[in-house]
Amino acid sequence: MAARTQQLAAALLFILGGVLSFPLSEDTQQTATCGYESCHATKSNMLNVHLVPHTHDDVGWLKTVDQYFYGDLNDIQHAGVQYILDSVVDQLLKNPDRRFIYVETAFFYRWWRQQSSSMQQTVKQLVNEGRLEFVNGGWCMSDEATTHYSAVIDQMTMGLRFLNETFGACGRPRVAWHIDPFGHAREHASMFAQMGYDGFFFGRLDYQDRTRRMIEKEQELLWRASDSLTPPMADLFTGILPNGYNPPEGFCWDQSCDDPPIRDDPDLEDYNVDDVVMRFIAAAKNQALVYKTNHIIMTMGSDFQYENANLWYKNLDKLIRYVNVLQTNGSKINVLYSTPSCYLQELHRANLTWALKTDDFFPYADDSHDLWTGYFTSRPALKRYERISNSNLQTCNQLEVLGGPASTKGPFGEGDSDTMKKAMAVAQHHDAVSGTEKQHVANDYAKRLAKGWQHCQVLVSNSLAALSGSTAERIYCDNLNISVCPLTESSKKFSVNVYNPLVRPVTWPVRLPVNGSAYAVSDANGKSVDCKVVPVSSVTRDVRKNRGSAVNELVFQVQAPPLGYSTYSVSLLQDGPPPASTKHRTPTAIQNKYLQVTFDPDTGLLSSLSNLETKQTVKLTQNFYWYNASDGNNSHSNQPSGAYIFRPNSSTPFIISKTAKTETVQTSVVQEVRQWFSPWASQVVRLYADSRALELEWTIGPIPIDDDLGKEVITRLDTSIETSEIFYTDSNGREVLQRKKDFRPTWRLRQSEPIAGNYYPINSRAFIKDDVDQLTVVTDRSQGGGSINNGSLEIMLHRRLLYDDVRGVGEPLNETSHIFPKGLVVRGRLLLSLERPPAAADTHRKLAQEVVLQPLLTFTNGELHPNTKLEFSGLQAALPPAVHLLTLSQWDKDLVLLRLEHQFQSWESKVNSQPVTVNLQKLFSTLEVLGASELNLSANQWKDDMTRYEWMAQTGADPLPKNSEASAAWEVTLKPMEIRTFLLRVSLR
Ligand SMILES: *[C@@H]1O[C@H](CO)[C@@H](O)[C@H](O)[C@H]1NC(C)=O
Ligand SMILES: *[C@@H]1O[C@H](CO)[C@@H](O)[C@H](O)[C@H]1NC(C)=O
Ligand SMILES: [Zn+2]
Repeated sequence: MAARTQQLAAALLFILGGVLSFPLSEDTQQTATCGYESCHATKSNMLNVHLVPHTHDDVGWLKTVDQYFYGDLNDIQHAGVQYILDSVVDQLLKNPDRRFIYVETAFFYRWWRQQSSSMQQTVKQLVNEGRLEFVNGGWCMSDEATTHYSAVIDQMTMGLRFLNETFGACGRPRVAWHIDPFGHAREHASMFAQMGYDGFFFGRLDYQDRTRRMIEKEQELLWRASDSLTPPMADLFTGILPNGYNPPEGFCWDQSCDDPPIRDDPDLEDYNVDDVVMRFIAAAKNQALVYKTNHIIMTMGSDFQYENANLWYKNLDKLIRYVNVLQTNGSKINVLYSTPSCYLQELHRANLTWALKTDDFFPYADDSHDLWTGYFTSRPALKRYERISNSNLQTCNQLEVLGGPASTKGPFGEGDSDTMKKAMAVAQHHDAVSGTEKQHVANDYAKRLAKGWQHCQVLVSNSLAALSGSTAERIYCDNLNISVCPLTESSKKFSVNVYNPLVRPVTWPVRLPVNGSAYAVSDANGKSVDCKVVPVSSVTRDVRKNRGSAVNELVFQVQAPPLGYSTYSVSLLQDGPPPASTKHRTPTAIQNKYLQVTFDPDTGLLSSLSNLETKQTVKLTQNFYWYNASDGNNSHSNQPSGAYIFRPNSSTPFIISKTAKTETVQTSVVQEVRQWFSPWASQVVRLYADSRALELEWTIGPIPIDDDLGKEVITRLDTSIETSEIFYTDSNGREVLQRKKDFRPTWRLRQSEPIAGNYYPINSRAFIKDDVDQLTVVTDRSQGGGSINNGSLEIMLHRRLLYDDVRGVGEPLNETSHIFPKGLVVRGRLLLSLERPPAAADTHRKLAQEVVLQPLLTFTNGELHPNTKLEFSGLQAALPPAVHLLTLSQWDKDLVLLRLEHQFQSWESKVNSQPVTVNLQKLFSTLEVLGASELNLSANQWKDDMTRYEWMAQTGADPLPKNSEASAAWEVTLKPMEIRTFLLRVSLR
């Protein structure tokens, strides 16, 4: 035994010397065999066990991303990613058979920048030989329930771009790897397919679904992730890992584990090779029973493991040797170092047909009373901040392109979009926007977004200076939602620049905190605009505390051209507060030309909603309630509600108040009924003159906890619509999925949580409908919601909990801040529209888009220079309603990344669910498009080079042949739900 070990050591030394002493030549680059070619051979007559050494490194959770990188605060959690990468590279060099996969580019990027060029060369060689392989490869492993597709595509693009630029083709991951996210969105699968991944692996799914799939051997399947894209465009082979992402029991050899090492010297005590090998073979055979092929995968690693990689590899080397040596005695088990893509290759070679899945993996339950549906809403303020940051980032990206080089270096200094891109990418992590991190980590994400926005503000100011010709200082007011903006509060004359990031004109209401009682507003053509002054509500005064002192709000509607801005000037006409214009009586109705809402004068609550154009009316009452969060002291289970888990103590929520005190403001620009339910729950029901949506602006908090009861606050809309237990939610802001009460499309559900088990993520909209009426609710952030009763839709707005839910975060979700020491106050908006079902999408897609990408207001004090260009559009003409400009972002000098999207599903709209063609050369007003190359969705591979594994489904139509439609070079046709990605070479006209 000892002799053999020495021989091995000598061989390893030789290899080590070889790698370090020979300089890498062009030759080595050319002979690079990475990806599928670098996989170890398998044995077709045996059970092949693919050991996948890996580490799961959260981009922030119990510690911030940088604390994790350095290994700081190890008293909170022992975890240091820099040491993991150091140690793994070192250990890979010791034996060329060893493999490792790395996932989170946010960490790898941090590490890479600190390496010497010789270490970088060494790592390149490991990558070129397939010994170190990137999987997934986005900046982070995104959350799937609470993210918006736009931000997910951006974060994947950033990570994959770094890998491509650093490692070339060998750095391109073949496999998507979401081992930890708490449920899986269909839209994520669709995106991964369009990014060119050959397969997808994850670890978490509903425990009942898992059991059924084990029995039926359906843990590996083909996910058809779009009902609009032509198969196989959105088909993704999906594998469910056997142990979450952990090793089989008894085989964890990390320094953080306690399993016995392999003791293989017969002269020493406790020789255990036979025992380990027998246990391993038993585990492998057991696992093989629930999978289809003679290949199985074992994830050998877990959270932040491999900090001392020697422990793992030393034992894995031995395991492989001792298990395989039995083959000479007839054993049919073959163990090998492998990667997810090598395993996938074998599944593909098996040439089987796979079960087809077309729904999603929400909600996720890991036991009968343990539904992970609370995080759909957890940390609602962070969720809103992340969403608005995405809007601001897209504006920043667009203005970087439209303003040219002067944007990043101009009169206001040096600005960049990169800081914000990185902050947004980190915020997509499955413990970031999900709200499942510790409080100090949530603060860190918010701080990064704020810093990113500061960098963008300089860029935006420079760009607008270049486009408008005015170098007047631009002022940003990020607190308009609570009526705070020092400039508008004090200035007698100022102008407002409204930048619209959408490719069609928008009409948008503007509310500015002011102290005067009368103002004149004129548009870019000098035409006067109807404006009204209304008093700031007492609720808003309470929320803003001493951050502002405006007594009034100036309200007017602005219009902004596509991908451009319009400038409005505002002058004070009269000082002082206006005569009180609020009434303390509930009106029977408020209405504009599109909508009418009525109120119950006795309760002050909404009683009906009508669409005046389509002449339809539904009964509609709406109120606020709270579920009493389970404290864990319960006869069925001791699971409390927490950051992840929603577990109400009772299925009947408490009503906050049966009646609302009201106050009414009615003007020609806006009408609002301000409802006050309790000191911590209020709402404004608001109708602007030109809006097709009713706005419900809710303000919740501080949620009281002096009764020692955790509370999960919802608003519920109860209507006369006949919903037959069905409602609809979007998936990551894109396609819409049907949800049925107490039902899952792919297995027979035993429902044990009647409320939490019927909650689903809502990213931008949800609706209920029958044959004649569709009520759509557009949200301003991701939230959880459900339809528990016929005709009803509820949305969870805010949660405050007193217990940790025992999933690792170790803190109750009990948000306070220095401004809100008694508990966080959160404000948000829901937009309601009522339509005939066949036409509803035409309205709600547009509404949702205007909330996701909202106009950016910037202010300048005083009179503008007369030569200032007051209006600008970056487009030659508005694009058709079906087309959305998903990305316009500077890629490199003269190179711009463009994504055009068809934003309707194939069945949604008579008018808009048709293919639509755009001419790239006729798109921009200020940019000449000199060349265009098409890329995959994540922009890390040319479209022409993109070949994916094809898979056969057990049922369902076979993939149609790929149709290559010839079209004129600059013409781009988009079919329903299609996104096309281009790199454009441009010059400023
Ligand atoms: C895969 O299976 C199909 C039948 O299901 C067969 O026609 C085809 O030749 C097989 N391909 C390979 C490479 O074995
Ligand atoms: C990938 O990176 C290489 C440089 O490593 C570059 O030449 C190539 O254009 C990149 N591919 C894409 C699709 O961007
Ligand atoms: Zn994780």
